[in-house]
Amino acid sequence: MKTVTVNATTEYDVLIDSGILDDVGKIVKEKFGLNKICIITDDVVDGLYGERAVNSFKKQDFNVEKILIQHGEQSKNTENLIDIVRKLAKMHFTRNDMLVALGGGVVGDLCGFCAATYMRGIRFIQMPTTLLAAVDSSVGGKCAVDLPEGKNLFGVFWQPSLVICDTDTLNTLTKEIYADGCAEIIKYGMIYDKNLFEMVKSGAFDHSEVIARCVQIKRDIVNQDEFDTGLRQILNFGHTFGHGIEILSDFKVSHGMGVAIGMSIITNALKNAGLIDESVYNELVDTLKNNNLPTNYSCSPSELFEKVIVDKKRVGECINVILVKAIGQSEICKMELDKVNELIKIGMN
Ligand code: GLY
Repeated sequence: MKTVTVNATTEYDVLIDSGILDDVGKIVKEKFGLNKICIITDDVVDGLYGERAVNSFKKQDFNVEKILIQHGEQSKNTENLIDIVRKLAKMHFTRNDMLVALGGGVVGDLCGFCAATYMRGIRFIQMPTTLLAAVDSSVGGKCAVDLPEGKNLFGVFWQPSLVICDTDTLNTLTKEIYADGCAEIIKYGMIYDKNLFEMVKSGAFDHSEVIARCVQIKRDIVNQDEFDTGLRQILNFGHTFGHGIEILSDFKVSHGMGVAIGMSIITNALKNAGLIDESVYNELVDTLKNNNLPTNYSCSPSELFEKVIVDKKRVGECINVILVKAIGQSEICKMELDKVNELIKIGMN
């Protein structure tokens, strides 16, 4: 088993292992000594792993409740948030009890937000079952729901008390959902760690080794900038343009696919402007392709710019754009909107 410890507002471990799902009850009992939990999961994950998780807790004499949501981004809404906290109240959950998010980013975000707000805050455990949740959203405490006005606009920072990642759960992901996680892994390589980039270059890699490395990187960043006022913004590499593409496609382009295209556009712009070696762009494109990820999207630069400027990462007339000038080295560049427009034009050329 691999363990990474995060030292944020709350100190917590991220445990990564194959088959660890069957031991969660024992681990949680030993760490926290409590006896009442509520698993929050979606219909798909419940069908695959719900029973094993429940049995693992029941074996340790936990009182286990379960709340199901429909799978998919549309479930990350304020109605489900209120519905879940009201169910917790009806089930007489107290501050001593814990929530368990069993699933991907939607379940993790929703459960984390409920944990942050129910009774002004109770503890929760993240059990990511997608690659993207394992390497990114389950760690670092960003929890939000979507509003009709935009994604993740209503949220909090609330750290989990434990993260348990069973790498076997990745075996049941579709090719597309698996590739979404690969985009975030390639992002970590690009912004922070050339060795990690090399590890995933061919498209085949050791899950626990790569997840642990990504979590270590995120831990290093979150330990320095938990509330996203500086360094943590490098995690947004590819996201500003990627999010614009997600919106343009009416969310038919997934988050990971958008990030992949966003990383390609911005790196292509730096290459075309003569600011980086051509090999950086070529290596990125090869690695994305080897991991079944797209590198372009059919739209005009002006269409993309229109969506990029409504991004919540915009500050006044500027956007903090993340640039990678050599693999493993990133910088935050505060850019005026006309420069961003120019960058998009050069990057989509
Ligand atoms: N997913 C980006 C962050 O946690 O900051």
